[in-house]
Amino acid sequence: MNNRLIEEAIKAKINAYAPYSGFRVGAALIDVDDKIYTGCNIENISFGATCCAERVAIFKAVSQGQKAFRAIAVVSDSNDFTFPCGICRQVMVEFKIPKIIVGNCNGKFKEYNLVELMPYAFDNLNVD
Ligand code: THU
Repeated sequence: MNNRLIEEAIKAKINAYAPYSGFRVGAALIDVDDKIYTGCNIENISFGATCCAERVAIFKAVSQGQKAFRAIAVVSDSNDFTFPCGICRQVMVEFKIPKIIVGNCNGKFKEYNLVELMPYAFDNLNVD
């Protein structure tokens, strides 16, 4: 699963719209039915309107009626592993995404869980 998600994230990166930062990101999210949703970063001249690749993928899935996920992968063109930003981590907490796979441009990847990436999160454990 990890390899497949990384491959889908690399493909999703092709559509990245990053004229301001030049930092192109792709993400691939797999749901509990093994359906994959992809995303890329979409920047804006009003920088705060930019949306990260991970959130594009998550919001696509939620908007299509799915809220239960198995994993998300994220890649960029960097040699370094691409870790999700704080806002994306908070969104991952919201939907309890159990596995976060971070890749680099050489196809290498590592996996983490949410507690590792978002310790002491402000969470929704008491909300249905
Ligand atoms: N970005 C992502 O899409 N995901 C991340 O995990 C980190 C940052 C985007 C936002 C912006 O378009 C560019 O990378 C530079 O910050």
